[in-house]
Amino acid sequence: MGGRDFHAVFQGLRGWPGWVYRARKMMIVMTNTKGGVGKSTLAAHLAIWLFDQGRKVALLDTDEQATAAAWIERAEKGITVAKATMVDAIRREWKKLQASYEFIVADSPGSGGEAAQAITLLAEIAHIPLRPKDPYLC
Ligand SMILES: Nc1ncnc2c1ncn2[C@@H]1O[C@H](COP(=O)(O)OP(=O)(O)OP(=O)(O)O)[C@@H](O)[C@H]1O
Ligand SMILES: [Mg+2]
Repeated sequence: MGGRDFHAVFQGLRGWPGWVYRARKMMIVMTNTKGGVGKSTLAAHLAIWLFDQGRKVALLDTDEQATAAAWIERAEKGITVAKATMVDAIRREWKKLQASYEFIVADSPGSGGEAAQAITLLAEIAHIPLRPKDPYLC
């Protein structure tokens, strides 16, 4: 998927209910117990898209693989990147970041577990990407 396509997808944010788009503080997490569905790709691109819109955004990566963090660190130095994989550290980083940023985009591990639960419960919006295969759509 190219940059233009991602841009088109995230323009859809404007179609969300007004309170979502006008919100001043929000964490959006990409989560799914299923691996390889596009969580990290979406997290990285959403963070960059928000940054390009002039919003104050940080990325919080709770996956040990830290794919989204590595992507952002290479692609956009203006975005703050935090990494935390243990529940206490996740809560600490979230608290710290939400004091300074309008948006926190969080990535979660593909295996579920405590880190995925913690970050999902803290988020205002949990975005659950799916692969369009029959078993996941029924
Ligand atoms: N919208 C898309 N269209 C096509 N390919 C995609 C799309 N989003 C992600 N991919 C590709 O799918 C693969 C898995 O993506 P990604 O690493 O983002 O998934 P993930 O859910 O974060 O995986 P994990 O659970 O292992 O962390 C990558 O090769 C990525 O380039
Ligand atoms: Mg990932």
